[in-house]
Amino acid sequence: MGASQPDPYVNATLDLKGSLEQGGQLFRINCAGCHGISAQGHLGPNLLDVSERRNDAQLIKQIVSGNTPPMPRFQMEPQEMADLLAYLHSLN
Ligand code: HEC
Repeated sequence: MGASQPDPYVNATLDLKGSLEQGGQLFRINCAGCHGISAQGHLGPNLLDVSERRNDAQLIKQIVSGNTPPMPRFQMEPQEMADLLAYLHSLN
């Protein structure tokens, strides 16, 4: 990913404090089918320690872009994205 452009969605998300509990729920509903119930990897890659490999802007882009099929593009409110990031940060 190149130089980061100011992105209002990313900025709005990063201004919010995420809820780990809500994020875990969103993950189980939207992501666990491919990434595994504990993010251990399945059809999609293992996401443990993913926040050490990718910064938040990169994670958000991955989730909303749909650039890497079969992973779909997700549209969610900044608060939901902040919750999901809180969950991704907790994976290790
Ligand atoms: C239909 C299956 C599918 C679903 C649903 C899905 N993913 Fe993925 N995801 C993938 C695949 C496949 C890749 C690998 C894409 C590639 O790099 O080619 C991926 C890659 C990723 C990556 C990058 C991992 C890395 O090491 O860089 C992240 C982060 C991620 N997914 C998060 C999520 C989150 C969060 C959700 C739920 C909102 C989700 N994914 C839902 C299939 C899925």
